[in-house]
Amino acid sequence: MSVNKEIKKITTNTLQKMKTAGEKISMITAYDFSFAQIFDKSGIDIILVGDSASNVMAGHETTLPITLDQMIYHAQSVVRGVSRSLVVVDLPFGSYQGNSREALNSAIKVMKETGGHAIKLEGGEHEAESIKRIVNSGVPVMGHLGLTPQSIYKFGTYTVRAKEEIEAEQLKKDALLLQEAGCFALVLEKIPAKLAAEVSISLRIPTIGIGAGGACDGQVLVMHDMLGINTAFKPRFLRQYLNMSEQITGAVQQYIKDVKEGDFPNEEEQY
Ligand code: KIV
Repeated sequence: MSVNKEIKKITTNTLQKMKTAGEKISMITAYDFSFAQIFDKSGIDIILVGDSASNVMAGHETTLPITLDQMIYHAQSVVRGVSRSLVVVDLPFGSYQGNSREALNSAIKVMKETGGHAIKLEGGEHEAESIKRIVNSGVPVMGHLGLTPQSIYKFGTYTVRAKEEIEAEQLKKDALLLQEAGCFALVLEKIPAKLAAEVSISLRIPTIGIGAGGACDGQVLVMHDMLGINTAFKPRFLRQYLNMSEQITGAVQQYIKDVKEGDFPNEEEQY
């Protein structure tokens, strides 16, 4: 697919119009300049600088260890590679849960230091006050409900959330509260497709699903999962579009062989 250079920058208003027009929204994570540039040129609508950087970039088991300054470093790199997509930056664990002032300060720091266009944070009604405060300061906020990886030690598992009626009802309530608090969109992670469909229909703002079925207004995948860089992670919801791990291994093995056999560099590859 070739992308028209005249296409305008994606804003939160564009996303709202896409929902109204029934046009699906595409979102992918990125953490560095080079991949962000490729994704932006490919025509992706939203690039999420996810705190999944903690897993896929830093090798931690959970998203909890990554710091605000580390997220800012990743976001700065991504923003340098983007000219069209909307860049959303995750607020990491411990940078907003304390109180709404802490949340506002973290959001402002991200916006000032990265040039990103919006922030995302996890959680329902407990975060509504912080979201209102951040939105009132002029910073667009994306919410995140369902499986919220920053609460992994509370859940104890990464399995599907809100299968039971009580949790499903709470999620529906939270979704409406986050919309009223001013979120411009909501990520719905790993919840039953039927529930995600109900939530998506009930909201004015777009929902972006990951493991939440096809009725969401958009979809997001972690780049390392969909490109097959991280092949150990194979949840049912994941569609793997490439096997980069295999391709890179093959390329590097060929390079090693060429070096060892004195085949690289050849006459044309030297001065
Ligand atoms: O950090 C992340 O990559 C995310 C997506 C899974 C939505 O929050």
